[in-house]
Amino acid sequence: MFGYGDRVSYDTEALRNIYPQKSLWRRWNSLSRFQKNLISLTMVGVFVCVFIFVSMDMSSGLPGVNMANRLPDWRDQNILDLSYPNASNKFLGPLGPPVVGFNKDESVKRGDIRPLSREEEEEQIRVGEIPQKKEDQVVSKPKKLMFSGPKNEKQEAVVSAFRHAWKGYSEYAWGHDHLKPVSRTYNDWFTLKLTMIDSLDTIYIMGLNEEFDKAKAHLQSEFRLDINKDVNVFETTIRVMGGLLSAYHLSGDEFFLEKALDLGNRLMPAFNTAWGVPWADINLNTLKPHPPSWNSDSTTSEVTTIQLELRDLTRCTGINTFENAGAKVSEHIHTLQKKDGLVPIFISPMNGEFRKHSTITLGARGDSYYEYLLKQWIQTGMTVDYLKEDYIDSVSGMVKHLFKRSGPSGYLFVGELASGGSDFRPKMDHLVCFLPGTLALGTLFGMPQEHLRLAEELIHTCYKTYAIQPTGLAPEITHFNLQKDADSDFVVKSNDAHNLLRPETIEGLWYMYYVTKNTTYQDWAWEIFQAFEKYTKVTHGYTSIGNVKSTTQTKPLDKMESFFLGETLKYLYLIFADNGVEGPLDLNKFVFNTEAHPLPIYNS
Ligand SMILES: *[C@@H]1O[C@H](CO)[C@@H](O)[C@H](O)[C@H]1NC(C)=O
Ligand SMILES: *[C@@H]1O[C@H](CO)[C@@H](O)[C@H](O)[C@H]1NC(C)=O
Repeated sequence: MFGYGDRVSYDTEALRNIYPQKSLWRRWNSLSRFQKNLISLTMVGVFVCVFIFVSMDMSSGLPGVNMANRLPDWRDQNILDLSYPNASNKFLGPLGPPVVGFNKDESVKRGDIRPLSREEEEEQIRVGEIPQKKEDQVVSKPKKLMFSGPKNEKQEAVVSAFRHAWKGYSEYAWGHDHLKPVSRTYNDWFTLKLTMIDSLDTIYIMGLNEEFDKAKAHLQSEFRLDINKDVNVFETTIRVMGGLLSAYHLSGDEFFLEKALDLGNRLMPAFNTAWGVPWADINLNTLKPHPPSWNSDSTTSEVTTIQLELRDLTRCTGINTFENAGAKVSEHIHTLQKKDGLVPIFISPMNGEFRKHSTITLGARGDSYYEYLLKQWIQTGMTVDYLKEDYIDSVSGMVKHLFKRSGPSGYLFVGELASGGSDFRPKMDHLVCFLPGTLALGTLFGMPQEHLRLAEELIHTCYKTYAIQPTGLAPEITHFNLQKDADSDFVVKSNDAHNLLRPETIEGLWYMYYVTKNTTYQDWAWEIFQAFEKYTKVTHGYTSIGNVKSTTQTKPLDKMESFFLGETLKYLYLIFADNGVEGPLDLNKFVFNTEAHPLPIYNS
């Protein structure tokens, strides 16, 4: 076994200076016969020992060095005690020096890596050990919250839709990641039961107690995290850790926290880089992190959209490692140079720098960086000033560089800057429609009223991207015309005409209704819900469609994304609650993660 905690430095130059070289052969010849025999015997002995050790490891059922098996089994533990099994109180992360050298072309040199300070070295080593709860740490324990189910016809209609989706999932994809409702089968992306876990809190909030208990029972017997699969750190954090933590906060059931903690430990090795910027992917069994196959860099929004979940895990367990790992990324990115608060979409885990000439966008790979600046600030009781300042700067940057009006109607929309920020493109992903919701949320916490005016205009534009289409459903990407005399404001290319049942516009409508109480937002949400019912509902669930531009050729894509149940239907249910507030889910007490999982707001 290698001592993974040891930090061995191979400075061969220095070694040569200390030990002048002498040929091995000459040294061997200068030894006495007894010395030669002793050395030979020792070497044979060492060889035999190593052989025995390795075969024992195999025979105990471990495929070679199976790091994950060294993880403690939480099931036997009283989780709130958080005492770790002492027999093996370490697990193997990719420890020692920061992980380097994933680039096959070796173009990244070791010298690019900044040497670690002493403090950071200690922190790095800590990342690989089973973290300990500090004695004086206050751990927040949730009380079980009660929800009484739908209170009006619209909420009932949304619950029926959820039941319909859940029935298809239960029958044809139970325990798998995604339902394929047309072919009546399933698809596994990470093999982490994504739809089930993403749905837990929606089920709970809708008051579907039987369904909740059934899902929980399944998870208790079948949910394993030590699967030999490469998963995306961000997706796994927002969907699985976020889903488990919110299920814990709502139901008070410690089982969910146990699982979140197991997952947290398995994700930590990805953060073992020079600047703490995590690798995009990690294998949950071998605990080996790596970049995705198509890219050596990590995605900016991914590395900055894990902090709410990691902080909450720390606050629930008293183990600081998780919050620290997340905060380190945010603090590092805070120090990097930006374009009026706007960030490029790629960042290197090797040297901690943004990739030059990468796009600036509020859409894919940029979006939730901005969202989590605000939401982290809210989660920490508005006590972390740099988050607020960076958020305000970024909104100014958006207004300056990304917001434009379309022709002929003058809709406000959010474009992109390509080529490192010089080339404006009037292209807006549906994902960008998270922005009005975030802007509106900020105004509940004292952000300028100007943000709400921007949000009002943007949510109107997002709504229009639905209303203008024959199906009443928005495409994945809309292009805008900039000429005042254009025929239409919107241009949709056929490659972009799909709808994946995404939540962002419904999410924005909920925040807008919650903040303004203007019932127009409920009306718009109802219209969109009707369009989902009409064009995406199939016998065994709901399906993404390939074409929103035709009512007869919608081209079902045979996939029901987990976020349809986790987010879209949840936000629809919430917007039809009186004043948009469902039971105890008050936005002064809870902040929703980017996958719509509510987490508590803390004082600091
Ligand atoms: C582990 O800790 C428990 C209680 O603290 C103790 O009784 C037990 O002997 C320890 N086991 C080992 C292997 O050290
Ligand atoms: C509600 O919002 C709609 C859409 O933005 C707007 O036209 C209407 O004037 C608003 N109603 C009130 C009472 O503010």
